[in-house]
Amino acid sequence: SQLSLMKYTFSVILFFILCNANAQLNLVPMPNDVIIGKGNLILKEPIGIITNDAFEYGDGGIALFKNFLTANYKISNFKTGYTNRYVLPTEIFIEIDKANTTEAYSIDVQKSNIKIKGSEKGIFYAFETLKQLITKNKNIVSIPVCNIKDEPRFAYRGMHLDVCRHFFSVDYIKKYIDYLATYKYNTFHWHLTEDQGWRIEIKKYPLLTSIGAYRDRTLIGKYGSGKYDNKKYGGYYTQVQIKEIVKYAASKYITVIPEIEMPGHSTAALASYPYLGCTKGPYKTIDTWGVLEDVYCAGNDSTFTFLQNVIDEVVQLFPAKYIHIGGDECPKERWKKCASCQTRMKDNNLKDEHALQSYFIQRMEKYINSKGKKIIGWDEILEGGLAPNATVMSWRGEQGGIDAAKEGHDVIMTPGSHCYLDHSQSKNEDSLTIGSYLPLQKIYNYEPIPAALNAAQSKHVLGAQGNVWTEYISNMAKLEYMIFPRMIALSEALWTKPENKSWKNFEDRLPTIFESLNKQKINYSKAYYDLDMKVLPSKENDGLAIEIRKKILPNTYMIGDFGVSPDSIVKMFYKTPEKNEAVQNFEVHLVNQKDFNDHISKTKTSTKPTKDANNKIDKDLRKLSSIVQQFQFNKATGKKITLSVMPNNSYPGDGPFTLVNGIQNTMGTARASEFLGFLGKDVEVTIDFGKEVEISTIKIHTLNRNSSWIYLPTEIEVTPIPYIDPNIITRHAPLVATNKKVSDDKNIQIINLPEPTKCNSVRIYIKNFGKIPAGNPGEGTGAWLFLDEIEVE
Ligand code: ACM
Ligand code: ZN
Repeated sequence: SQLSLMKYTFSVILFFILCNANAQLNLVPMPNDVIIGKGNLILKEPIGIITNDAFEYGDGGIALFKNFLTANYKISNFKTGYTNRYVLPTEIFIEIDKANTTEAYSIDVQKSNIKIKGSEKGIFYAFETLKQLITKNKNIVSIPVCNIKDEPRFAYRGMHLDVCRHFFSVDYIKKYIDYLATYKYNTFHWHLTEDQGWRIEIKKYPLLTSIGAYRDRTLIGKYGSGKYDNKKYGGYYTQVQIKEIVKYAASKYITVIPEIEMPGHSTAALASYPYLGCTKGPYKTIDTWGVLEDVYCAGNDSTFTFLQNVIDEVVQLFPAKYIHIGGDECPKERWKKCASCQTRMKDNNLKDEHALQSYFIQRMEKYINSKGKKIIGWDEILEGGLAPNATVMSWRGEQGGIDAAKEGHDVIMTPGSHCYLDHSQSKNEDSLTIGSYLPLQKIYNYEPIPAALNAAQSKHVLGAQGNVWTEYISNMAKLEYMIFPRMIALSEALWTKPENKSWKNFEDRLPTIFESLNKQKINYSKAYYDLDMKVLPSKENDGLAIEIRKKILPNTYMIGDFGVSPDSIVKMFYKTPEKNEAVQNFEVHLVNQKDFNDHISKTKTSTKPTKDANNKIDKDLRKLSSIVQQFQFNKATGKKITLSVMPNNSYPGDGPFTLVNGIQNTMGTARASEFLGFLGKDVEVTIDFGKEVEISTIKIHTLNRNSSWIYLPTEIEVTPIPYIDPNIITRHAPLVATNKKVSDDKNIQIINLPEPTKCNSVRIYIKNFGKIPAGNPGEGTGAWLFLDEIEVE
């Protein structure tokens, strides 16, 4: 039949009223106990900063505080020392509580003076809080009278940075550390070795940096693009620079934990010293991304000698009590074929290669423990038996953390679903990102203690960490864009007790937070202000209800065909057409004040925007935010859908309805938010048409990306169910799906019924690929099944 193509363009004008009626302090992360008093303390020079005692490790942040006042408020006259006389116009009294080993502090701001009390670290945080309390109005610099008693919820508050996929200079690292300190993080996890580059000078092994720190070229664009820039790329930190950074971090009470990755992700080391690998090479530092098969040989003692010598130098550089040894994503292919590795397994009664990995980690743990340090490893170190004193970093979801805590091990939570800042934060992301979709609200609401743990087990959850892998982050501007504002949201999830935090309250503070990022000249994501589109089933399941929401952004309007609305929500309704395949387009744009005024003046004689005005708006305002969405209807669109299992937390899409919401993920890049991911599980989908329809073809949109452990289904069974007697059903099982390739990794599984069949609902059983075969990334684990739209014709 003839495909009827209808095209609608909608536009909306919405007017927003900015309201700003809250009287809370604009602090982030929000302190746990705040009492706001009356009036303000006016900062007048000279300012006395008076301590009761000497600091042991640094200066409690006093010098930084003075610099801050000078840089931002031109206040430069300070008198510091030990005195007790109330003689200066503004006085800050500091009481260092040497008996206190926590990170707690208190601040008492009165009209005439400020009293700060806490451990040395606590006093540093007090100054960070104080900085955020200062405001300037008509040349008067003041702090509201208030009383704050504060301490963090979690002892481990980390941010990670991969400097191997892309290298960041010493100055950039210091800037990164500044950001951590501002939001009261206390740990910097520095990922220093990788397949793509070795970044730490080791005196005993100079080739690690002369060879391993460089690669010949770098992948351009998306993973699998096959395009390279043909430019030598690399860099490393000398031991002098590392000491400088560790010292710099310590001055901000931040611990630096180095990660020396083993046994996987180690190609740069193998390229430098090929004897470290099972095949003895030759190897090259890697120019693309992914999981590589060449890993350290676990059979040769020379590997352990090498790593122990590396550790000897590392422990000299980093005073932290932890060394991160990686342990993630180590394929076992080479070990299976390596005589030395197989001999090692026999000699030690190791039943498989997972046990060999466990042997590897335990042997290194013993050595690292002998140096007075503890190890942290990614959750794969649980496989084959956990090293006795290891702390587990749970990244493939929460399960690793739950298992480790139940075994009595300490845990740091970094699940990909909530803590990976390399994932996109906007549904309309126009820069290249990896993985899934992690919007601001989701990371803000992250709860580090898994519900599966009881109170005693929960104590093992030391905290959480934001991870920043840099495959697609090659410069500071992009790095800032990816971490801000999400690392601020995470800081509150780590610092503030659940009873003192709420998304609504954080949203109220966001304009001030953005203002402060502007002031710091930080490049941050404005995805929070994106038009947010929700596609929902209509009440009668006979079409799509579309809601467009917009956060209040001063001087900004939504433009469209719906007239002026004082609301930030637009609701539209599309009825599913009787005939298939209608394509409907709509566009919504955000505009700024000037364009809006132009628009109004040009359209005031007409109820509809002129073409002229629309053109101008189109051009200028696409920059701010716009949604252009195409909907394709079929018999399943907007219908009731149920699933036998819910999608995995990491790829939940917008729930089951994502599969019948009329949005086909087949244009441009695959948007993670439009896919449902099922890890190792089969799915049975039931679509209820609500009336009798005749069906003949089912099309299931899927993804095939084996490098990311995503595989096509192996079997699809379609069962039309008539309403008359649901027990008498026509099984078409299993039908062979015709696989239509849409692009490199997008596929449509087409199932043609032997004949057109009348039914009221249809059940579709989709079988997961199952275990990933040997020789592939993720071998031995369950494959991902990725589903997008299901079309019924
Ligand atoms: C990881 O993201 N491979 C720990
Ligand atoms: Zn080997």
